[in-house]
Amino acid sequence: MDLNIIAKKMCAKGKGILAADESTGTIAKRFKSINVENIEKNRLYFRQTLFNSSAMTEYIGGVILFDETIRQKTTLGLTIPELISKHGAIPGIKVDKGAKLLAGSKDETVTEGLDGLRERLKEYYDLGARFTKWRAVYRIDKNLPSAQSIKSNANALARYAALVQEAKMVPIVEPEVLMDGSHNIDECYKATTNVLNECYKELKLQNVDLKGTVLKPNMVIPGSECEDKVDAEEIAKRTLDCLKKNVPSEVPGIAFLSGGQTEVESSKNLNEINKINDTSFLITFSYGRGLQASALKEFGKNQNSIESIQKAFNHRAKMNGLSSKGEWLESLEKDSAA
Ligand code: 13P
Repeated sequence: MDLNIIAKKMCAKGKGILAADESTGTIAKRFKSINVENIEKNRLYFRQTLFNSSAMTEYIGGVILFDETIRQKTTLGLTIPELISKHGAIPGIKVDKGAKLLAGSKDETVTEGLDGLRERLKEYYDLGARFTKWRAVYRIDKNLPSAQSIKSNANALARYAALVQEAKMVPIVEPEVLMDGSHNIDECYKATTNVLNECYKELKLQNVDLKGTVLKPNMVIPGSECEDKVDAEEIAKRTLDCLKKNVPSEVPGIAFLSGGQTEVESSKNLNEINKINDTSFLITFSYGRGLQASALKEFGKNQNSIESIQKAFNHRAKMNGLSSKGEWLESLEKDSAA
């Protein structure tokens, strides 16, 4: 299928992306918080419960998987990519190998995973993946993110994206400026601007066809320890302004990460952005915690309660589906299962 068509399907109005690609280390933290043992059987059970939810068909355009999950079979014998496709969503795969300390730096990273990527991509395609994800991470602090981090990560993201398109899949380009810290919204705006600018410079240099990509950025938001709180309208205004100025209009879809916002905050902010979206970008969600936090809590209460896990997930998927159209209302949160 044409890459532009895949990208538009992943971000279709009313739909977004479920990021279920937590590495074994990250899911260990999530399971620890709900007192669930981090073993393969539990990881499969939780994820297959989400992928079997009724919300999948209506609100989820794509699912990002981790290497372990794309190889697993459900208890009914379907492979996980088959299960996702059965619901009309597109299976995708995280292909980076994580953020590693930059040489000479104490607190900045570069994302690795380019070695052998061409061969891994071929295998993932054969397993059913039609899009991929690579996440670069940037920290805001005094003099950070540095030019070293911005340039190194942009180069890796662009080389990744070029290889993915060669393998006939859509690359999700994820430059995440972290929410951690006490920086204000202006500092986030500035860092996000610099990061996006460099990414698109490198993507063009590597001849990536932007029409066959999806951008997964952070919202422009104050740091989690910042004392100057701003409302959702301001976050939406600053975020959209930053995207308009720095993302080429050929990019068909922009799917935000939730990045540590609460579930309701991430729905509310996405909704405000879509209420004022006067661009051609399809703007939606690609949430991990923003879609799964309540469902995880239910899983922690009772691992066998498929119904309550799915009810919590269905609710979040529906709320975010509405936000992707600017139709979310705070009052609808009261119907919440969790
Ligand atoms: P969060 O929505 O929890 O930030 O996760 C999204 C993601 O895929 C990070 O790479």
